[in-house]
Amino acid sequence: MSTADKLAHLRRLRDEAQLGGGEQRIAQQHDRKKLTARERIELLLDEGSFVELDAFVTHRATDFGLDDERYLGDGVVSGHGRVDGRLVFVYAQDFTVFGGSLSEAHAEKICKVMDLAMSTGAPIIGLSDSGGARIQEGVASLGGYAEIFLRNTLASGVVPQISVVMGPCAGGAVYSPAITDFTIMVDGSSYMFVTGPNVVKTVTHEEIDLEGLGGARVHNETSGVAHFLAEGEPQAMELTRRILGYMPQNNIDPPPTVADWQAPEVSGDDLDALVPDSAQHSYDMRRVIGGIVDAESFAEVHAHFARNVICGFARVEGRSVGIVAQQPEVLAGVLDIDASDKAARFVRFCDCFNVPLVTLVDVPGFLPGVDQEHRGIIRHGAKLLYAYCEATVPKVTVITRKAYGGAYDVMSSKHVRGDLNFAWPTAEIAVMGVEGAVNIIFHDRIEEAADPNAERATLVAEYEARFANPYVAAARGYVDEVILPSETRARVVDALAMLQGKRQAVPARKHGNIPL
Ligand code: HXC
Repeated sequence: MSTADKLAHLRRLRDEAQLGGGEQRIAQQHDRKKLTARERIELLLDEGSFVELDAFVTHRATDFGLDDERYLGDGVVSGHGRVDGRLVFVYAQDFTVFGGSLSEAHAEKICKVMDLAMSTGAPIIGLSDSGGARIQEGVASLGGYAEIFLRNTLASGVVPQISVVMGPCAGGAVYSPAITDFTIMVDGSSYMFVTGPNVVKTVTHEEIDLEGLGGARVHNETSGVAHFLAEGEPQAMELTRRILGYMPQNNIDPPPTVADWQAPEVSGDDLDALVPDSAQHSYDMRRVIGGIVDAESFAEVHAHFARNVICGFARVEGRSVGIVAQQPEVLAGVLDIDASDKAARFVRFCDCFNVPLVTLVDVPGFLPGVDQEHRGIIRHGAKLLYAYCEATVPKVTVITRKAYGGAYDVMSSKHVRGDLNFAWPTAEIAVMGVEGAVNIIFHDRIEEAADPNAERATLVAEYEARFANPYVAAARGYVDEVILPSETRARVVDALAMLQGKRQAVPARKHGNIPL
């Protein structure tokens, strides 16, 4: 073969690899309103930045007639590229080749880019669209999955990992996205479950379709498995690019900064007027967030799940922060099992990746009830407590209204190493709610009074005046400063600047044992 022929041969192979499972299957993919693996990567990365690896890898299986059916790339497109100029590694499963199913060789390709991501300290993004284990390869495929799970685990807390589910992701395959930091699902075309509708019907006699069992809405709203809901694949890629912008490349680097930030959307005057006179009335904590962070910088995580707590990334004068805040408009901002899990995982992400935490507190306590107790609110609430206790990133706390009981301690209080703790004059920092406290302390006095209701009302008013305020805590130094709501942004800016060089050690150990 002449040199010219050899070059032409390579070009032909490259063209063949571009087509994955072939034009017909690409057309079928488009008919399902799904993009191909390569089209997705193109949307995700900066234009022209993708460098593909292993385009000529094929499977090594021979059983079930597979030796006659080989496709270059073997059902996954992998390599590296740039997002806003920053290095990322990516793999995208190609449904046009054996339904994107995972063979031994397919797994090796994924592991190769994961290993490179780890050695170079860059994020890894996985785009899933797969029928699961390549059934013809049997246990070799299971081994391949386990190799990926191991790398997901070893990379956890070292480089950010984002999963985007853009088709089926079922069986054990779901555990890769589950270990990664954030999972994005596409509404209407993605689903995740451990066992599908047919198995569910056989085992539990429940009848349910794919969407109802494990569609994007179910996992965003009910299970909390997914953190983001995208309306279509382009939005999923856009979201991935956006959230990467808040994260550092790895656990050693600082997060990127943005130079052209804008002043907050909500004015200080609006914040001064925000908290209603009556404790029975709620207000939207998003307004408080809007009064602290740079305009248009807030990206909510888990926006549809456990909405009584708000988590999300934002920027303050161009620097990334993680916001954790109660939402008084949903269940009065109470901490329940789901809210605790949601916030704990977010706090831990921020702590892994040097993102300072700004915590906004208006919490009446943990949710009472047999259901919550029996499902383990103790265990789940402890996760959030543990997460805040172990976090060593800068922690700035603002108590806007209620901070009662154990929930006060948990929510980045001074005692769990909150660095700067502010309270608004409307704050009520106390051991428990006023009514409950009075009923216990003055039980006999109320019972014995000629008019128990009047007596209770008097005692409640007295207790409220004395203890339901920020000044008892401020007198002990548990609150560093009582501030006007309109001063919040300025104080948070100063606090974060002051804390930029913060160093805090934790005892040497293999790892802690977070209550799971
Ligand atoms: C081999 C597979 C495959 C698989 C799909 N294909 N899944 N090939 N192994 N797991 C092939 C199909 O045979 C078909 O090939 C092509 O991909 C497209 O699939 P369709 O069925 O035509 O597509 P669709 O109707 O959209 O259905 C998609 C699907 C379905 C729901 C994913 O294919 C399906 O149920 N697949 C099997 C899912 C499964 O049971 N996986 C293994 C689970 S065990 P042709 O040539 O006909 O076009 C597992 C264990 C993992 O995953 C454990 C990890 C720890």
